[in-house]
Amino acid sequence: MTNRKKIAAGNWKMHKTFAEGQGLAQEIRTMADTELMNDAQLLIFPPYIHLQGLAKQLEGSKIGIGAQNINQFEQGAYTGEVSASMLTSIGIHYTLVGHSERRQYYNETNDSCAAKIVIALKHTIVPVYCIGETLTERETNQHFSIVEDQLHALKGLSNEDISKCIIAYEPVWAIGTGVTASSDQANEMHKHIRVVLTRLFDEHIAQGISILYGGSVKPDNAKELFSQSDIDGALIGGAALASRDFINIAKSF
Ligand code: 13P
Repeated sequence: MTNRKKIAAGNWKMHKTFAEGQGLAQEIRTMADTELMNDAQLLIFPPYIHLQGLAKQLEGSKIGIGAQNINQFEQGAYTGEVSASMLTSIGIHYTLVGHSERRQYYNETNDSCAAKIVIALKHTIVPVYCIGETLTERETNQHFSIVEDQLHALKGLSNEDISKCIIAYEPVWAIGTGVTASSDQANEMHKHIRVVLTRLFDEHIAQGISILYGGSVKPDNAKELFSQSDIDGALIGGAALASRDFINIAKSF
């Protein structure tokens, strides 16, 4: 048994007004304080515009807060973008990197993700690096090699830096579809991720990294997923928008 961190992370995507987000954050905080008895780490990833307000609101709570994206450059003429130092200046120390929706709609590549991971770590921001294959890639039996290519974005990090990262395996075909990867399918890929990390780094590093599963995680399938040997938590979309569901997932460890 390793003592990898158990994590329930909510990706709010482009949902919730500020007032709604404040309400959701407050409910999560209250439920976490009164009901969450395990040592799961809770993380939320609200839209950018809510980060500063919610970070203030959640000060002193057990809930960590992160951005859904980060820019790969220090500063400059990049209209519409937000830098690592801007995030840390408002107390944000987590970010998603390479979510499949950003790869699909905003042309993020393994190379741009690699640069985002480097700049995040440089600024003491923990990257949650999202990887996963499409349905076609799985059906044509390319899922293991696609995930391996995506993991190469981590190549070149120092052992110290890679140990700070979190990985989220999110098969694209399971996101928002109600179709979850079976716990066996998910665990098989999580083990493969550790094999690749062992090749890129070493066994100790590979066994120490928390790997989250994402894709239609709900209160009723979380326990089964979390019981698997290599699944250390979840990156939750839809179910993270309801405090009750989010907390019930976190209680499933
Ligand atoms: P759903 O839980 O809605 O399938 O979304 C998963 C996801 O993309 C989290 O980042």
